[in-house]
Amino acid sequence: MTRTAPPRGPARPLRPGAGAPARGFGLALLLAGVPWAAAAQPADQAAGPLGLGRPATANEIAALDIDVMPDGAGLPLGGGSAAEGARVWGGACRSCHGREGEGGIAAPLVGRDAAARPPTVGNYWPYATTLYDYIYRAMPRNAPGTLSPDEVYGLVAWILAKNGIIDDEAVMNAATLPDVVMPARHRFDPDDRLESDAVR
Ligand code: HEC
Repeated sequence: MTRTAPPRGPARPLRPGAGAPARGFGLALLLAGVPWAAAAQPADQAAGPLGLGRPATANEIAALDIDVMPDGAGLPLGGGSAAEGARVWGGACRSCHGREGEGGIAAPLVGRDAAARPPTVGNYWPYATTLYDYIYRAMPRNAPGTLSPDEVYGLVAWILAKNGIIDDEAVMNAATLPDVVMPARHRFDPDDRLESDAVR
């Protein structure tokens, strides 16, 4: 394979003419921040060749470490039912996804017909656990990160119940959610390329 070197030239500022003043301003901020930063940081801040940065604290990592894996690893404490989810749905989700999750200006979330497009939670999602992950991380679209774990468990229960996947009374939590078998599970094959010889 031939490789073409990328064109080289003087580095361009993001905005024409903004390079020098922006850099000067950045440096001034950096210097002004040093005494304060040094006082506020743990002693090991200056480790490493550049003497910059510090290890993240356990609290800082916990705030970002919100992913939930297909097997349920990462699901937090708490729980919720469809009835609890319905109350949150009306205020936070219905305006975009429709009263019954049938879709509106955003995707439909309810529907079991495998041929229907666009896909829904009922006909396309392979795991119920990652529904928790997605909602907690990204929804509502206009205010992501504002829902509590209990509210998200309730919303997941509401969406699963509307799709006829769980009973209306079922409580979703870290123990029950991984056991939910999604109707579209068989439509996906695990990606085992790292272990197999098929692709190198
Ligand atoms: C402001 C509009 C808006 C609101 C409010 C909103 N959503 Fe969404 N939602 C979207 C959009 C847009 C997408 C599609 C994201 C994309 O581009 O892939 C989406 C995608 C989703 C999906 C994934 C659908 C799929 O199959 O890919 C789920 C699940 C979902 N939203 C749940 C919720 C829940 C639960 C709430 C309420 C807490 C909510 N949304 C509130 C706009 C919204």
